[in-house]
Amino acid sequence: MVDINNNSEVQAMTESCQILCDTLNHIEKYVIPGESVLKLDSIAEDYILSKGGIPAFKGYNGYPSTLCISIDDEVVHGIPQNIFLEEGQIVSIDCGVLKNNYYSDSARTFPVGKISDEKQKLIEVTQRALEIGIEKAIPGNKVFDISDSIQKFVESNGFSVVRELVGHGIGKQLHLEPQIPNFSVPKTFSLDTLLVEGMCLAIEPMVNLGKKDIYTLEDGWTIKTKDGSPSAHFEHSVLITKFQPRILTKN
Ligand code: CO
Repeated sequence: MVDINNNSEVQAMTESCQILCDTLNHIEKYVIPGESVLKLDSIAEDYILSKGGIPAFKGYNGYPSTLCISIDDEVVHGIPQNIFLEEGQIVSIDCGVLKNNYYSDSARTFPVGKISDEKQKLIEVTQRALEIGIEKAIPGNKVFDISDSIQKFVESNGFSVVRELVGHGIGKQLHLEPQIPNFSVPKTFSLDTLLVEGMCLAIEPMVNLGKKDIYTLEDGWTIKTKDGSPSAHFEHSVLITKFQPRILTKN
């Protein structure tokens, strides 16, 4: 089950999340046409180490890199390759930091130069879906309230949510219970979990412009949409407090 954190634990977690937020802010400057994807990964790794953190994904279940870099129809878990960003792409960058024995996890989707209107809308809807889900992360609500609000918002905009991958509790481990689905239909067991003060949750809608179906590449990691449509991903690590959710991986 997810840890219920006291004040000093919240402080430790906050530092981890702040390094991660700064890392993504730093990386954003390099998301431009012609930039090397491998360079993004090494810049992120160096940056995290320089702040006294450890890249949390590298070595996790054998994952080889600091960042997951997923381009266009790649949904999540893209392994950085020796390729270069191209104008018009959208790039989802997911990163995790370990600091003070606490994990943080956050993702954003960036445009590379000028992108199409439909990709722009996909990014905006996914980011807004995350905000809407986060608003429901208050004591007395259930996981259902987060999941249901995300799904309804995304589908009312004509897009689809991925079912096979979900958000999660986070803290002394990268992945803790409860699972945080981005959908309430079909029903999953964690939807009934009550949210309480002190829980940390990684909420992470993955939204496809086309159909919800995905598959995994032969590398065992990279996940792509079956219909080839682009996909976006936004994620924050969020602390539930008495009053309002605290987004720990935000500026
Ligand atoms: Co996550």
